[in-house]
Amino acid sequence: RKRIFSGMQPSGLITLGNYLGALKNWTNLQDDYDCLYCIVDEHAITVRQDPAKLRKQARDLLTQYLAVGIDPKKNIIYYQSHVSQHAELAWILNCFTYMGELNRMTQFKDKAAKHADNINAGLFTYPVLMAADILLYQTDLVPVGEDQRQHLEITRDIAVRFNSIYGDTFKVPEAYIGKVGARIMALQDPTKKMSKSDENKNNTIALMDEPAVIMNKVKRAVTDSDNEVRFDESKPGISNLLGIYCACTGKTIAEAEKEFDGVGYGVFKTAVGEAVVANLEPIQQKVKDLEKNKDYLDEIIKDGAQRAGRLAERTLTKVQKRVGFPPKI
Ligand code: TYM
Repeated sequence: RKRIFSGMQPSGLITLGNYLGALKNWTNLQDDYDCLYCIVDEHAITVRQDPAKLRKQARDLLTQYLAVGIDPKKNIIYYQSHVSQHAELAWILNCFTYMGELNRMTQFKDKAAKHADNINAGLFTYPVLMAADILLYQTDLVPVGEDQRQHLEITRDIAVRFNSIYGDTFKVPEAYIGKVGARIMALQDPTKKMSKSDENKNNTIALMDEPAVIMNKVKRAVTDSDNEVRFDESKPGISNLLGIYCACTGKTIAEAEKEFDGVGYGVFKTAVGEAVVANLEPIQQKVKDLEKNKDYLDEIIKDGAQRAGRLAERTLTKVQKRVGFPPKI
């Protein structure tokens, strides 16, 4: 069976963007692939985090993975920091990645602009750790949102480079980016992506937002004045809501445009809000049930780290040998 790897940072409350762009696809793929779904806490500390909060967010992310339907029996779910091979391979791959390549990463540029007081080396080499995550498991497919496309490209470049120097070592992975939902935009500023670190909470719908809050945020979303529900580059607000609606309902854009032909934005927004609530409400209920079950969550994490560690060690040992490290006796 082919293998999937993906991850999410425990750097805040996860959003509708994370859900529609990634998590929803993860659950759909779990029956056909061997999947590892990681909580990438090592990536999260590239920006300053409060330790107690980070710990809680990592745990919350675990319960959210499970609540959306990722099955811990079918998949390997674990914390990145529990599998030391990620950091070890990242170091080696750092030596096969050029400053110039990393300098071109748009996420680095965005984050450096946003955190000008903390442009640390980890933030710069973030994509190399991400490449290590993926390449450690001989991954075939990486389901992510559109914003990770460039990181997948550099991962492939690093793999190809290493393979060409040392012979076939890594599988060269492909990105899996959904047709709908791969780029959910901020509600108050639909020209930028919805992001869990956004300070304006009206820009984001959190996975755990109450139904009334969701309805309100959707109703207040920025649109335009021509009152036509149509997918069009010049209508980023309406196009974003259409994308959300379709990703939540499984309908196509053409079907949705027809459904809301001539009805005006009020009716449309209500339908969008209701579609989001219909997706998120059952998940929220499951999160509340899971939170009560501490032993169950602990067991998943322990088991996940062991299973991931065994797989990771195979690739790491091979890589260490290829680059010329003396064998352990
Ligand atoms: P992160 O934590 O920012 O986001 C997790 C996933 O959510 C997707 N996403 C979105 N999709 C649609 N619309 C949006 N507005 C939106 N915002 C976020 C992201 O594309 C991602 O799939 N670098 C990664 C974490 C990572 C990783 C990996 C992913 C580390 N190692 C290895 C895959 C494989 C990140 O920051 O995701």
